[in-house]
Amino acid sequence: MPSVVKINVLTVPAEMREQLEQRFANRAGMVESADGFEWFELLRPVDGTDRYLVYTRWRSEEDFQRWQESQAFQRGHAQAAQERAGDRGEAPPQSQGHGHGQGPAASGSEVWSFEVIQSATPKS
Ligand code: HEM
Repeated sequence: MPSVVKINVLTVPAEMREQLEQRFANRAGMVESADGFEWFELLRPVDGTDRYLVYTRWRSEEDFQRWQESQAFQRGHAQAAQERAGDRGEAPPQSQGHGHGQGPAASGSEVWSFEVIQSATPKS
């Protein structure tokens, strides 16, 4: 079974870039223990666009779905969930939370899905 790549495309206004990178610098680090997790990278755009790519690779679609429904995903997104609740004017969910009241770092997000059909690593 080929691995699957799930990329979360975050649209980040210029004035929020530092905050988003800070959020990820303080991220929970729970995804590393998820079953079937293979790789994570946060990609910063250097060509003038405003879209960061949160690149993740998984052993299978099921492993990704299980993580997305897991506590680890919820806790890994505590801040992001608070922001969205704030947007809807709701009280934020009981979460670990860091830095109440900061606006959302990303103004939009979409998920791209791929299967790895070929890959190469440097010759050793
Ligand atoms: C509404 C959609 C989403 C938004 C706005 C969002 C935003 C964020 C933010 C701001 C963080 C940093 C931690 C925090 O501040 O909470 C984070 C962590 C993370 N996000 Fe997302 N995210 C979303 C959905 C997703 C999806 C669908 C994926 C998978 C492709 C993903 C992959 C990750 C990973 C791997 C981490 C690190 C978690 C850890 O360290 O355990 N996110 N996300």
